[in-house]
Amino acid sequence: MVKIVLLPGDGIGPEIMQEAVKVLEAVGQVEGISFEWETADMGGIAIDKHGLPLPEATLKACRNSHGVLLGAVGGPKWDDLPGDLRPEAGLLGIRRELGLFANLRPAKVFGSLEAASSLKQEVVAGIDVLVVRELTGGLYFGRPRFREALPEGGMRAVDTLEYTSMEIERIARVAFEAAMVRQRKVTSVDKSNILESSRLWREVVNQVAKEFPDVELNHMFVDNCAMQLLRDPKQFDVIVTTNMFGDILSDEAAMLTGSLGMLPSASIGGKVGLYEPVHGSAPLIAGQDIANPLAMILSCAMLLQYSLGRPRASRRVEQAVEAVLEAGYRTGDIWQEGYNRVGTKAMGDLVARAILEGGAYGKS
Ligand code: IPM
Ligand code: MG
Repeated sequence: MVKIVLLPGDGIGPEIMQEAVKVLEAVGQVEGISFEWETADMGGIAIDKHGLPLPEATLKACRNSHGVLLGAVGGPKWDDLPGDLRPEAGLLGIRRELGLFANLRPAKVFGSLEAASSLKQEVVAGIDVLVVRELTGGLYFGRPRFREALPEGGMRAVDTLEYTSMEIERIARVAFEAAMVRQRKVTSVDKSNILESSRLWREVVNQVAKEFPDVELNHMFVDNCAMQLLRDPKQFDVIVTTNMFGDILSDEAAMLTGSLGMLPSASIGGKVGLYEPVHGSAPLIAGQDIANPLAMILSCAMLLQYSLGRPRASRRVEQAVEAVLEAGYRTGDIWQEGYNRVGTKAMGDLVARAILEGGAYGKS
């Protein structure tokens, strides 16, 4: 029995979560995995029901599970709350509490979606980048952070950017290990021409690289990387970088592939992994059965791979998504003239069916 905690969250979170469960049930049927689901509150819904974004009971459920699926959190309703009571604080809190220091964000272009990118098809065809983002350190967690009134009038606000060599070392190792089973190329992204923490970052990454002589390492400044991702994204295999740079570059990398609605992510490093789409809660389209559930579904593939050690089941999910796209089905965000437009539920049904049919033919 595999116990999975579901944190549907806000906006489109609950709708896409339903499709994720549908797809995992299907793959469970084919691969002989039986799931036990527990739903818990996090984000805006937790603020409404319990007065805080990450209730202790939610954390406890996550700690006692084999893996956590998260839909999305946040929305205009909670935007005016103080920083530590916003839904986003729940997300940062769960990452910290579960020790999820490594965030893997693969940006891969599906052949059938090459034309959906805003870049030229020849630039994006074949993109396969993995952004490894440090997730529990850097600017998003550094102390002190505060705001104060200045005696001469006006305000001052402070955030702190710090990294220890231990934090850099462990995220670098995740990146090199990932590269070993990919194209064996790591690009470490920093701003070491300015930032002291980036100079330490570069030094430590160079040291870790010595353990991986088969992996080619290069360094790039973050501004250059932002440009190179648009100019020649195929030069990248694994990108490893800090929390904030990774936040920004992973959105950029995601968009190369056509839609943010396609990109999954895995947050690992602790005992229990957390899997969520890169996109947000999209409150404007919530409840209309039009959101793209594929990023959430592909996050299930990452759960199968990284937390459950089921690579074949994981591939089944990815292949089913590919098959459905190839057959011409599209949600609104990736729809183009001549394709078959479907809603959230129909997309989930199609993927689940493709898994069940693929299973019958013993496809793996
Ligand atoms: C992400 C999101 C979050 C982050 C926000 C919602 C706190 O942008 O997962 O990339 O900045 O990490
Ligand atoms: Mg982000």
